[in-house]
Amino acid sequence: MTRIAIFASGAGSNAQKIIDHFRDSDQVRVSLVVCNKPGAGVLRIADNEGIPSLVIEKEKFFRDNAYTDELQEAGIDFIILAGFLWKIPVDLIRAYPGKIINIHPALLPAYGGKGMYGNHVHQAVIDHHEKESGITIHYVDEQYDHGDIIFQAKSPVLASDTADTLASRIHQLEHQHYPAVIEQLLQI
Ligand code: GRF
Repeated sequence: MTRIAIFASGAGSNAQKIIDHFRDSDQVRVSLVVCNKPGAGVLRIADNEGIPSLVIEKEKFFRDNAYTDELQEAGIDFIILAGFLWKIPVDLIRAYPGKIINIHPALLPAYGGKGMYGNHVHQAVIDHHEKESGITIHYVDEQYDHGDIIFQAKSPVLASDTADTLASRIHQLEHQHYPAVIEQLLQI
């Protein structure tokens, strides 16, 4: 059994899809939800699903052990970032080499990096009159939105799109692909 932790900061719609996908799996278990924002929607999801959650603190995450000991004690094998807004400290990356992945709501390497999250990404895509956007699933390294790309899928950008309408189309694409890409990755 591969035990995964989902790291999220917000609503957690991707987390929900991943939990749904693996609910009956005998190979993958979502064992922990890690969140940096008390009150975030993803914590309610964890509660409803009976999945333990861990609310993390900045000081300990960035200046202490990055919760590496807690994750290892919980037997976590793999870390999935799904809308997690803090940068991952080097210590955690070293403890989980090649075992931390992220989803980004654009076609990296474009529209990534510090400050490029949520509707900032979609507004930048619209402002640049892009004809298409999409999603990128990638390994996490020491720079924001930088690690090797695992998977991308594209979506048209319509002339009538606002950041919100584009976000909702991109979210659907994320929900459609993220759980399946995780499953494939964990089978290798
Ligand atoms: C997603 O668009 C993801 O790509 C980005 O943050 C968003 C999280 O949405 N990194 P949700 O919390 O899963 O609904």
